[in-house]
Amino acid sequence: MEEKTINLTVNGRKHELKITPNTTLLRALRDQLGYTEVKNGCESGDCGACTVIMDGKAVNSCMVLIWQADGSEIVTVTGLGDANHPHPIQQAFADSGASQCGFCTPGMVMSTYTLLEENPHPNEDEIRMALSGNLCRCTGYGHIVQAVQQAAEEMSSSGGQK
Ligand code: FES
Ligand code: FES
Repeated sequence: MEEKTINLTVNGRKHELKITPNTTLLRALRDQLGYTEVKNGCESGDCGACTVIMDGKAVNSCMVLIWQADGSEIVTVTGLGDANHPHPIQQAFADSGASQCGFCTPGMVMSTYTLLEENPHPNEDEIRMALSGNLCRCTGYGHIVQAVQQAAEEMSSSGGQK
């Protein structure tokens, strides 16, 4: 298939790619642009490890073809914060022991981000529902729910979404 030029903004940085248009957003982010914090778990839309925010919505990047993302704004987990300046959600995941092997964590954090943007005070059922597309092999989900609750409290006491 013929390559096309695709424009993407990732974590505020603009990229122009020459790429076959049926490449997935996941492959483009990881293999061409080096955003390896976006994890490849199943590549079939089942695990949520590859979740990124695309134009304000959480998407499984393995299910988006790159032509569909042309011109879009993407945020990955490193776009929220880093070890020195963690986002409250990242801090809450660390504090709550919600990250064991850490493989699911980037996707969990991004799904949590969109949840709290839409619903700053979710109850436990709403948290579990919002994260139902994100699978974790390690934690049993209790610590993850606790992390989301901690992040919600922290963000609402500090005046809302950061
Ligand atoms: S890698 Fe995309 S949903 Fe699993
Ligand atoms: S922390 Fe290991 S898969 Fe979730």
